[in-house]
Formats: sequence, structure tokens, C-alpha cells
Amino acid sequence: MARINENFLKLPGSYLFSEVAKRRKAYAKEHPEADLISLGIGDVTLPLTPTAVSALHKGADEMSRKETFKGYGPEQGYAFLRSDIARVDFGYRGVRIEPDEIFISDGSKSDTGNIGDIFSPDNIVAVCDPVYPVYIDTNAMAGRAGNYDHETGKWDRLVYASGTPDNDFVPDVPELYGDDAPDMIYLCFPNNPTGTVATRRQLKKWVDYALENEAVILFDAAYEAYITDQEIPHSIYEIPGATECAIEFRSFSKNAGFTGLRCSYTVIPKALEVGGVSLNSLWNRRHNTKFNGTPYIVQLAADSVYTPDGAAQTQALVDHYLENAGIIRAGLEEAGYSVWGGVNSPYVWLRTIDGMSSWEFFDYLLKELNIVGTPGSGFGPSGAGYFRLTGFGSRENTLRAVERIKKGKLV
Ligand code: MLT
Repeated sequence: MARINENFLKLPGSYLFSEVAKRRKAYAKEHPEADLISLGIGDVTLPLTPTAVSALHKGADEMSRKETFKGYGPEQGYAFLRSDIARVDFGYRGVRIEPDEIFISDGSKSDTGNIGDIFSPDNIVAVCDPVYPVYIDTNAMAGRAGNYDHETGKWDRLVYASGTPDNDFVPDVPELYGDDAPDMIYLCFPNNPTGTVATRRQLKKWVDYALENEAVILFDAAYEAYITDQEIPHSIYEIPGATECAIEFRSFSKNAGFTGLRCSYTVIPKALEVGGVSLNSLWNRRHNTKFNGTPYIVQLAADSVYTPDGAAQTQALVDHYLENAGIIRAGLEEAGYSVWGGVNSPYVWLRTIDGMSSWEFFDYLLKELNIVGTPGSGFGPSGAGYFRLTGFGSRENTLRAVERIKKGKLV
């Protein structure tokens, strides 16, 4: 008799963004007249850049001719993209990453979710709280999270590093799990969901902690393009020692608007070993076995980001969303909310009003103001009483949403 992976049965409720979409849909069905504005999931709204579009056309033309047609590509990604990433994303910042330390993939959600394949199911995992739910849910599926406690909203085998207003939502290194330090540590900066960033000093503390405890940091830098502050590191590898203890995830979704096209990459330095085994070669083995590569034409489009025109057009997309986030932040502040993020990040994090729970505030925004956002408690227990809005909406909708929030009613 076949048996299922029973860890899936331990997962509480549905995936956060599916739940938000479900509630939005139900409300829209009951109120077809409602003019809903979505500032919930961090999905982009501007079209691809002209440079990316012409790369897609070029790729499609190549695929249509016998002489230039391409079948399977290298599982790790085409050399042209891997070398441009190494040269620009890291080389320009004074960080040496080799092309063969870069694995092109179809999304940071997949990669941060799949990376657990190369780690022992017994590892102790630490997460920041609040946190992007993929890190927790995928570890729960693998059996690393233990059991979920509905009272506390925590998994009993995970270590939580709490983000609070006191630490400006940049958690300090976590407590031990029993006598043990965590083996795998998920960090995300600029942070999803709080929009806060970690300074060099703060990141150094995590890197030193990982080196000292022989832990691996899984650093999600999907939002690095939003960093405007010169002092804030874009990559964990800007911190000395990080190539020996960290894996980094990057995405083309939030800078170049590839949420629908799908392209990302993961960096695993060859210096990173666990128990004398290279994680680069383990991931390579996993990638070769389970993945047949990101489509050629998508990689061409991703590579166009590294041309002068592509870089300028991509920056214009980022600037647009960043400006949206600034508009939301300023509007919320004017309306008297306590707010974080929205400066080096497309996400704005706010404290709910009148002691409302995150889901009560979700209902208030949905039903009274016809705005869809994301409840902070969906990102973990420390998110309770908080709420996330994104700068990824259209400018028009962002302005209209902010007007509604400032007036506390539909306008
Ligand atoms: C989010 O809203 O947190 C993100 O869009 C989710 C994702 O990138 O998968």
C-alpha cells in the first residue's frame, strides 16, 4: 500500500497567498460591484522592458530556424547568463563569484523550497519571524519543523528569531534549540515581509555565528535591487567569510518583472563545504537529476538586464515600484500608522489600528476600503497585529488605495 508523506498533514490551513486569493475571490463574487485594489501578493504589474521583449523575440526566431534551434540546454544555465551575473551582480561589487558557482533556475520560491533536498532531515532550522512562509512550509514538508502548535503558531522543532519594533524587525542571532545551535539559517534582506534591511554589521554577526556553529545561511536576496542606501550590502558575500557558510538566492521577478516569465539563480560557492562535502556539487547533482533548465529564450531575456539599455529600463521598473512603496509609506504615516519598510524595499509593514488582529484588519481593508493586503500573522507569530502592503500595484491604484486609507473609507 502506498503511503503519503504525512508531514504534509501537519501543515495548518492553506498556503498564505492562496488563502488571501481565496478570500478576495469570495468577496468579489458576493460583491461584483466592488472596485477591489490588490496590494497583497508581491506580483508586478508593469510590462517587461523593451530590451527583454526584443530578446524574447530574438530567441523565438532562433528557435524557429533549423540552424539555430535549441533543445535541452545546460541544466545549470547558459554560460552567457552565468558569466554576466558573475561579472555584474558580484564583480561590480568587488565580490568574486565564478560562473560555475551560479545555477540558473525558474524562481527563488522553487530554489529556497528545494534547497532542503541537499540537507539532512535532522538539521535544526532557524528562521526569522515574521518570515516568507515558503521556508517554513517546505521544511515542515521535509519533516524538519516537527509539529505545529496552534496555540503559539509555532513549529516545535524550528528556532525562531523574532523581529519586533525594538530590533526594527532585524532579528538578532537566535537562541539554541535545546543544547544545539541551528544548522540551517534562513535570512531574507531586504526582508519579505517587513521591508527592513540588515546593515553590514548585522549581517557580519550572522555570518560569524554561522561560521562558529558550522551552520549554513540560506540568504534570500530577491529584493536586493530595491536597496538605495549605499551602506547596505546587496549580497551576503560582501561579508568576509560568507563564501564558506552561505548560499544566496536571487531572482529576476522583482527587478525585471519576470514573475510570469520565471528566472532566478542560486549561488553556491565552491568554498562552501559541510562535513568535507561540497554543497556546490550536491546541488549540481540534484539540479542535473531534477531540472532540465530554464527556457533558452527566458535566459536570453534575463541576460538583456545586463546590457546598458536593459539595466536602465530595469532600474526604471524598480524605481517605479519603490516610488509606489514610498507613496504608501507616506500615506500611512499621514494617517497615523506605525510603518516599517518601503524605503529600500517594495514592501511596507504596518501595525494594525484599534488592536485589530491581522485578519480583522484584512477584513476591514477588504470590506470597508476594498483593498486587498496580506495579514502579518500569516508570516508567523511575530507578525500578529501587523499587515503588509506592496508597492507592486499600478501607480493609479496605489494612489487610490492610499486616499481610501487616509480617509478611512471608500472615496
Ligand atoms: C510575496 O508576496 O511575498 C511574494 O510575491 C511571493 C513570492 O515571491 O513567491
